[in-house]
Amino acid sequence: MTLKSLGDLPVLPLPESFALTAAYNDDPFHEKVNLGQGVYRDNNCQPWVLPSVREAEETLYNRQVDHEYLPIAGDSKFLTNARELLFGPQIASSKNITSLQTVAGTGANHLAAIFCAQKLCPKNVFISDPTWDNHHLIWREAAPNVMQLLYPYYDPSTRGLNFEGMLAKLESSAEENDVVILHACAHNPTGIDPTREQWKKIAEVVGRKKLFVVFDCAYQGFASGDADADAWAIREFYSMLFTESSSPSSTPAGMFVCQSLSKNFGLYGERIGALHLITPTSTSPEGAKAHLVQAVRAEISCPSLFGARIVHAVLDDAELRSKWQEDVQIMALRIKSVRALLKSELERIGAQGDWCHIEKQIGMFSFTGLSSAQVQELREKHHIYMLSNGRMSLSGLNESNVAYVARAIRDVL
Ligand code: LMR
Repeated sequence: MTLKSLGDLPVLPLPESFALTAAYNDDPFHEKVNLGQGVYRDNNCQPWVLPSVREAEETLYNRQVDHEYLPIAGDSKFLTNARELLFGPQIASSKNITSLQTVAGTGANHLAAIFCAQKLCPKNVFISDPTWDNHHLIWREAAPNVMQLLYPYYDPSTRGLNFEGMLAKLESSAEENDVVILHACAHNPTGIDPTREQWKKIAEVVGRKKLFVVFDCAYQGFASGDADADAWAIREFYSMLFTESSSPSSTPAGMFVCQSLSKNFGLYGERIGALHLITPTSTSPEGAKAHLVQAVRAEISCPSLFGARIVHAVLDDAELRSKWQEDVQIMALRIKSVRALLKSELERIGAQGDWCHIEKQIGMFSFTGLSSAQVQELREKHHIYMLSNGRMSLSGLNESNVAYVARAIRDVL
């Protein structure tokens, strides 16, 4: 259909997390609370520049750096650090991992979707139900010919993982080279991850059916406070499916890992991330890398400098790196502590229901179980902003507002 006038285009709503932040910023109510977007806040509701990052900024400033173009694939020193953070030093040195710098985790997901759609040509992409809303948008825009199918993930009756449903869906419907998006840790929005035994079973199905996994790793460090522990599933998939000893009959065509450094370095606006392609050891990754480089050139020419320089400055210096590990722990522990606070406050004031799941879930979010009508009432009556699917970004909670939020929840139940 030909468009007669640009005025015929319908007005689309803003993506929810951004719309909520805008509405919250415009709300003059004194006790308003933003539990919408997944961004870290300190105990005073303020953005937190990690002390390790601040120190790296000062070092960079004193070094009087230039502002030249990066190579199209990105800053190689940053990529070495980012790869080691994700895979650990041993796996990171493997020849079958190819890395490119991206415009944050979103850019990595987008590049992965473009590459898969154009070169792998899968019939379907399997996406967890529910997921980060942008997965759907990215694949719709970048890979319109790939059918989006949901695999069961959240079971409302147990408020846990629907592991059987997830595996059954992949077993029954996924074909060779179909893409499966998996959240590496701290699942967004549910805060529920598979156990290590369950991850192994998923990897077994992926290998046997030769599915192409796209791991989205947006919250490394936020699940446990330990970046190595949070990368366990990725490393396990690598070891099971992509080493010399992996059986060729159960080695998929490849696997992507989309790495965001936005959350664990508090570098949200700097848009820093990486895309890692893992290929079978018997295959040369050079052609695939050349096509990825071409896609980057067409889209952004080359990535930007600042975030890459900061991450490199932090991770390449033993002392700063250990300060950064402490910073990540501070963030993870604060979120854990507000989980406990909210649960005990809801119980103390007799809010109807069982609130154990708030403490059991992990990472930045709680999938509260509140309905969209209750979420709407929280917003309209109490000026508390959260996603309509009941996802609460816990970092907006603190010692001063948790009692207010708990009372408001009791009121809307
Ligand atoms: C979120 O899930 O709230 C964040 O990842 C921000 C975003 O881009 O949606």
